[in-house]
Amino acid sequence: MKVLSVVGARPQFVKLAPVADECARRGVEHLIVHTGQHYDPMLSDIFFADLGIPDPDVHLGVGSGSHGEQTGAILARMDDVLTQQPPDWVLVYGDTNSTLAGALSAVKMHLPVAHLEAGLRSFNRRMPEEHNRVLTDHAAGLLLAPTQVAMGHLADEGLAGRSVHVGDVMVDVLRRVRAELADTPAVLDRLGMPSGGFCVATIHRADNTDDPQRLAAILGALAQVDHPVVLLAHPRLRERARAHGIPLDGGAVKVHDPLSYPDLVAAVAASRGVVTDSGGLQKEAFVLRVPCTTVRPETEWVETVELGWNVLVEPGLDVAVAASRPPPEATDAAPYGTGHAAAAVLDALASP
Ligand code: UD1
Repeated sequence: MKVLSVVGARPQFVKLAPVADECARRGVEHLIVHTGQHYDPMLSDIFFADLGIPDPDVHLGVGSGSHGEQTGAILARMDDVLTQQPPDWVLVYGDTNSTLAGALSAVKMHLPVAHLEAGLRSFNRRMPEEHNRVLTDHAAGLLLAPTQVAMGHLADEGLAGRSVHVGDVMVDVLRRVRAELADTPAVLDRLGMPSGGFCVATIHRADNTDDPQRLAAILGALAQVDHPVVLLAHPRLRERARAHGIPLDGGAVKVHDPLSYPDLVAAVAASRGVVTDSGGLQKEAFVLRVPCTTVRPETEWVETVELGWNVLVEPGLDVAVAASRPPPEATDAAPYGTGHAAAAVLDALASP
């Protein structure tokens, strides 16, 4: 069997790591196509190095652009790749422009497509990611769902026949990295933060960064949190804040560049809370049993909210109040699986 993974953005490199490992373990031929959507070393190369992912076989080098430019450039460049190296499966991950373009290029060439992290829905049609999810799920022939809730959404859209519940590959990689953490991680010194006394914040979604009032309300609230806040600034956040003339730091906030994956896991594990609009970080906080505050009107990861470890808030003082709440009641629930999702993915790809 020959599998061709299409990845391009930071969260996809994390999901790729356990799949690449499992392919290597089983002797499955695995080609990696990097679209180039994320090109900063701290958003891309460092993930390959730290997570032991083989270098990409093909780099499309598309870089930044509007949604149309980015998606279109990937589509145009994938034709040659798929003609020269037709795989048994094209595997696409998550909900970015790279996901949709990878899936579309493959189905147009009559190649089988599998979508990892299928069935997630926010039901918010303003999000570019929501369209990427829906369109990719309806194009793909095999839908690999991380949760039972995602399986339910696929069934509601008439896609139950092509759906398989595999669990969440992010738990595979998180458990592996957590097991290797030092007792006193060096990242805390670099951040200048006391163990257990700070929170980790990330804000990057277009809905939060592109509207100046919303962004100012979020940053103003972070500044008023009653303990130190490390704001890990994604390039989109820096660029939008500069364009709107809104300072990133002030009050409780200390701005820092994005972290490598092992440093992020170490920082979150040693924090008292997370404030974010990222999908992955909501789950990582839950698995590490750190309370999460999500600055969005809805979440795809509803289990984290139902189990009491995540609250959804609007920009404004609610962010600061939620960030200071105590941890909820302990739980041993594992809605995202127990770290064996990549094996289930390879089983599903290999089954006739
Ligand atoms: C993308 C995904 C989002 C995912 C996120 C993770 C889409 C529509 N969105 O959002 O689902 O959660 O990645 O980070 O695919 N930039 C750099 N350096 C880089 C990459 C981007 O400076 O290496 C800048 C770009 O110039 C652009 C901005 O960051 O101004 C946004 O990048 P883009 O890839 O369009 O989307 P993200 O916001 O990263």
